[in-house]
Amino acid sequence: MNFEFTEEQLMIRDAARDFAQRELLPGVIERDEKSEYPTEQVKRLADLGFLGMLVGLEYDGGGMDTISYVLAMEEISKVDSSVSVIMSVNNSLVCWGVEKYGTEEQKQKFLKPLARGGKIGAFLLSEPEAGSDATSQRTTAVDMGDHYLVNGTKNWITNGKSASIYIVMAQTHPELKHKGINALLVDSKSEGITVGSHENKMGMRASDTCSVMFNNVKVPKENRLGEEGFGFKLAMQSLEGGRIGIASQALGIASGAYELALKYAQERKAFGKEIIHHQAIAFKLADMAVEIEAARFFCLKAAWLKDQGKPYGQASAMAKLYAAETAMKVTTEAVQIHGGYGYVKEYHVERLMRDAKLTQIYEGTSEIQKIVISRGLVD
Ligand code: CAA
Repeated sequence: MNFEFTEEQLMIRDAARDFAQRELLPGVIERDEKSEYPTEQVKRLADLGFLGMLVGLEYDGGGMDTISYVLAMEEISKVDSSVSVIMSVNNSLVCWGVEKYGTEEQKQKFLKPLARGGKIGAFLLSEPEAGSDATSQRTTAVDMGDHYLVNGTKNWITNGKSASIYIVMAQTHPELKHKGINALLVDSKSEGITVGSHENKMGMRASDTCSVMFNNVKVPKENRLGEEGFGFKLAMQSLEGGRIGIASQALGIASGAYELALKYAQERKAFGKEIIHHQAIAFKLADMAVEIEAARFFCLKAAWLKDQGKPYGQASAMAKLYAAETAMKVTTEAVQIHGGYGYVKEYHVERLMRDAKLTQIYEGTSEIQKIVISRGLVD
């Protein structure tokens, strides 16, 4: 066991912290209020190498490890999860699958611009009637010889509007159920694609979340990722890594809210002393600190397993479950500690509480994580 970070990991954490505090904090309230996509901030994220930080150097990525990814995701999510979700989806759900299963041509054409952040990716699995029940894909990819013809609707797509490259899961052989699903790399500007309007969400309001409709969209055969029928497994494997990203995001939301509450409790006076000196508040902060530390260990353990090339699906589900539940509890307590001030936008904690809720839902709800964890308990 070694609980120390390397110099490089600490440098990456500090760079992410500096970026978040200097470039994300100003304007985060307004972007949330207006549901305004963080165009400039995402460009800076690309310049700093965070959008493709997990991709190998040979494909223009940052060549960084998953521990560094956890540290960077935590720092950015302390301030603005609408930005960190863009970074997480691009790294874990899009670049990872292309790097792991793509052909050399696909890597040159799609991975390199995604890793540089010049192009953004999106992962199109969820549908109006296939959310948690992801095998029930209704979108079809009919085999037409040299291409697939794609029809259907995808829902809740992060980066739906801003992405240039989609990974689309679609059913080619319904009789084979999940074994008939393909994963296709699709240019988002292809003829026949219509992007719905930006969802008016409770939290993470600045990230773009849309439906995407496919009407006879032609996708060349050479754009299939992996073998015929490998799409569902590719999606599940991608989500194993994606859940490390979202767990780290939830961790950041929790630690961001905790830091604000700790500071406030040392400044705010009631009944003649700073409220941190009232046990009711001190014990809340103690519970928050313990749960955050436990969530951090879960995230780092899953990341470490991934970096060691060991199985990490169970660990990432545990990290996602625990960190998301912690984020919800901690942000609720942070609002409580702030009292009335916590309920207004200027103090940030109400936004963090709204953002926390989504971490219990996307990339597999907390209930789905329990399915994954409990199935893994049985030999
Ligand atoms: N790796 C590889 N293969 C896997 C796998 C994994 N982690 N998990 C399942 N599979 C395989 C199974 O082995 C099985 O294949 P075989 O028949 O060949 O053995 C196949 O996939 C089907 O698996 P199950 O029988 O377990 O399927 P199920 O219907 O019982 O449920 C589930 C699986 C885990 C519940 C899955 O449907 C699931 O994860 N659902 C949640 C979907 C989800 O997380 N969506 C998030 C959308 S993306 C998003 O939110 C991104 C964003 O915008 C931020």
